[in-house]
Amino acid sequence: MIDAKKYTLDNEKALTNNKANNKVYIETYGCQMNVSDSEVVMAILIKEDYQLTELMEEADLLLINTCSIRENAEVRIRGRLGEFRRVKRIRKHAIVGVIGCMAERLKEKLVQQEKLVDIVVGPDAYRDLPNLIAQAEGGQKAINVLLSREETYAEIAPVRYASNGISAFVSIMRGCDNMCSYCVVPFTRGRERSREPKTILSEVQGLLDDGYKEVTLLGQNVDKYKWEKENEETVSFAQLLKLVAKQAPQMRIRFSTSYPQDMTDEVLKIMASHKNICKHIHFPAQSGNSNVLERMKRGYTREWYMSRVESIRRHMPDCAITCDIITGFCDETEEEHQDTLSLMKWAEYDFSYMFKYSERPNTFAHRNMKDNVPEEVKSRRLTEIIDLQHQISREVRQKDIGKIFEILVEGTSKKSEEQMHGRTSQNQTVIFPKGSSKKGDFIKIKITKATQTTIMGEIV
Ligand code: 5AD
Ligand code: SF4
Repeated sequence: MIDAKKYTLDNEKALTNNKANNKVYIETYGCQMNVSDSEVVMAILIKEDYQLTELMEEADLLLINTCSIRENAEVRIRGRLGEFRRVKRIRKHAIVGVIGCMAERLKEKLVQQEKLVDIVVGPDAYRDLPNLIAQAEGGQKAINVLLSREETYAEIAPVRYASNGISAFVSIMRGCDNMCSYCVVPFTRGRERSREPKTILSEVQGLLDDGYKEVTLLGQNVDKYKWEKENEETVSFAQLLKLVAKQAPQMRIRFSTSYPQDMTDEVLKIMASHKNICKHIHFPAQSGNSNVLERMKRGYTREWYMSRVESIRRHMPDCAITCDIITGFCDETEEEHQDTLSLMKWAEYDFSYMFKYSERPNTFAHRNMKDNVPEEVKSRRLTEIIDLQHQISREVRQKDIGKIFEILVEGTSKKSEEQMHGRTSQNQTVIFPKGSSKKGDFIKIKITKATQTTIMGEIV
């Protein structure tokens, strides 16, 4: 079993180490999994006596943890590399590393296209970073983009360098075997694999001991979590959720992301029966039309998705449901688009992430379908979807006025020292007058006002 506490102490010692040429600067793009991976990367580097800096101008190693999910994510990252170039002109010895999904997707092409890049490291190769850095210091370009069927960084205690000290991510699995036709993730993050439960529980214990109040269990498809080993009891996601909830009854437990095809009623029952498991499910539909869903290879129909939402509502009437939607997927007709709008109205999502379809090289859709919805049609449909979601969110929030929620206080509001912000179990941010509350407290708040962007409340 790992000793999370010991790792933290080791890391603290390393943070005060002052060896020359060891300052690392890291930027992270993309999903929560990338945020979590950057914490693993920092743990690996700190063991090598690296020290974190927030100033790229003083860094000896500049890392960018990248995302490939849509083309514009990659465009933005190339823009940031321009900034790195500016630093490298002054600090010629500095090593520039591209890590994460874009590293995995582009491999050696990255060092050919972006001359300033010295190292390229895929999501399963972070343990090799010290060797790759040494190679780059010797003047060679260094690349490791090997994907693994086993790597989960199970025993590495992440260094939560950008954390608020209250909430933390805990990775429970890696990779994805779903192969949705539009998605690059199976190519950049490889095969699905689950992390050993005891290392997850030990990480959660370490967080609890360090005063954290909330953990989010992360996986591309948490419903497929399964720990199987000879002579050991098999652990499903529902069982893991229960183990974590029991291990840390004083903490809030969240998880992301659920997959409609795989989410079981067992998970819903565990959620409903544990007060500390937050009542929020991120439940990406992607589209409200069964034909589009089939072209997307999502493995479920509109009706199936709706039946799962009904099941969530049945088990937990107060559960927030949020969604991801892609508009303008290959061959999407106006009627199919209307089905997405009608699903959104029916489901009354609290919140949605909404995207225009972006064709990704080598995916099934790229190889077999045409990205044939014109850009202006995609834009118009996206606007309709966004406008509708805003209207739904407003209506859902209005219903909360006068209700009392338990809030986990996360800190002082950006706008005023006299106000605090925190989140409900449903993941809704609330602003309220400070009173005697402090960061990390659980307090009861009555919602008094809800506007488009903020929800206000008062301590009761
Ligand atoms: N184009 C647009 N959006 C995408 N997503 C994944 N792949 C693409 C793509 N090629 C969206 C999905 C997913 C979220 C993380 O990103 O909605 O749930
Ligand atoms: Fe995360 Fe997917 Fe982006 Fe990779 S491509 S960083 S898995 S969102």
